[in-house]
Amino acid sequence: MAGRVVHIVGARPQFVKLAPVLAALDAAGKISSRIVHTGQHYDETMSERFFDELAIRAPDINLGVGSGSHAAQTGAIMVGVERDLAESRPDAVLVYGDTNSTLAGALAAAKSQCPVVHLEAGVRARDFNTPEEINRVATDRISSLLLAVSESSAANLRREGLPESQIAVVGDVMYDVALSIGRRAAADSTILDRLGVTPGAYLLATVHRAGNTDDPGRLDAIFRGLAQAGEIWPVIMPLHPRTRKALDAAGLTDSIAGRLRLIEPVGYLDMARLTAAARLVVSDSGGLPKEAFFHGVRSVLLRADALWPELVELGWSDLLPAGSAEDVAAGILGALEAPPGREGFPYGKGDAGPRVADAVARLLEV
Ligand code: UD1
Repeated sequence: MAGRVVHIVGARPQFVKLAPVLAALDAAGKISSRIVHTGQHYDETMSERFFDELAIRAPDINLGVGSGSHAAQTGAIMVGVERDLAESRPDAVLVYGDTNSTLAGALAAAKSQCPVVHLEAGVRARDFNTPEEINRVATDRISSLLLAVSESSAANLRREGLPESQIAVVGDVMYDVALSIGRRAAADSTILDRLGVTPGAYLLATVHRAGNTDDPGRLDAIFRGLAQAGEIWPVIMPLHPRTRKALDAAGLTDSIAGRLRLIEPVGYLDMARLTAAARLVVSDSGGLPKEAFFHGVRSVLLRADALWPELVELGWSDLLPAGSAEDVAAGILGALEAPPGREGFPYGKGDAGPRVADAVARLLEV
C-alpha cells in the first residue's frame, strides 16, 4: 500500500464512525489502517459489541486506559499513543469526534510531527464549560485536515481563522451507517418485541453528559420530568454506566424505576431499531438526535446548545436547557404535539466514508 494511517478510537460513538471510514479506505486499497483502541470505554456493552455488530476487525492494540480524571485519562492516552506512533510511524492519524481519546490522540500525534485528520471538525457548542467543547476546539487547532459533516461546521472553522485549504465538507459518516444499519436493524433486531413496545408508541431517552449527571439538581429534574412523561407514554432508557452510578448515588433509581424502563446499554443494531421506531427521542447525546433525524424522528435536546444547528432550524430538534421537572415534562409533551420538521438534508448523500478516504489520499498524495 502507498500510505499508512492510524485510527484512534476509544468511546462508543467513535467505533460507529470508524466502520464506514475503514471500509472505504480498505476498498480503495491505497492506504493501510492500524486501529488503536484507547480503552476509554471498556465494558463489553460499550465496546466489543460494537466491533462485532459493525463488523470492524479487532483493534491492533488496546491501550486499556479505562476511567479516571480528565487529566489522568488524557495523559494516559497520550503516553500510549506516542509510544505506538514511535513504532508504527504512520503518514497520518485519524481522530473522531470530541472525546478525551480524540484530543489526547491529536496532541500525541501532532507532537510526534504526524499530521492529524479530524473527522467531525468544526462542531461547536460555544460552551467552554464542557469537556467536549475543549476537546473539539483544541483538536481542530492542531489538525492538518479538518473534515466537516456540514456547511455550518465548516463555517465555524472559517470564523476561527482556520485555513480554507485544510477544510473539506465530506457529509456525515453516521448517515452512511444509518442507511446500512437501518435496513439490517429493521430485519434482524428483536428489541421491540423483547421490550414489549409498539413502533411509534414509546419515547427513547438517553442521558450521560457530565453537565447533567454530575449536577444532582439537574439529574433530579430530568429524571422526574421524564417520569411524568412516562405516565403517558412508555419511556425506554438504555443507561450509560456513568448515569447508572449517578442515579444510585442520588438515591433516585427506585423512585423512577416504576415509571421509566431503565435498561442496560444496548448494541448498535438494537439502538438503531429503537431510534427509528420511537415516537420521540429525548437525549443529551451529541449523535443520537442526528440519528433520529435520519430516521424521520423528532428529538428534544437536554442541553443548552445545538451541536447541529440545522436540526433546530429545520424544526426537528427542540432545545430544552436547565429547568424544573415540570419544564422538562412540558418540553417533552410539547414536542409530542409539534408538527414534523421541514424538508432539507444538510448531511450529504450517504457517501461520506468514500469522501473521507479520498480526502485522506489527497493529504498523503497517494
Ligand atoms: C465520553 C465522551 C463523550 C461521549 C461519550 C460516549 C469525554 C470527555 N466524553 O463520555 O463525549 O459522548 O463518551 O459514550 O471523553 N464507564 C464504565 N464503563 C465504560 C465506560 C465508562 O463504567 O465502558 C463509566 C466510568 O466509570 C467513567 C464514566 O462511565 O468514569 C464516564 O466515562 P468516560 O469515558 O469518562 O466518559 P463518557 O461519559 O462515556
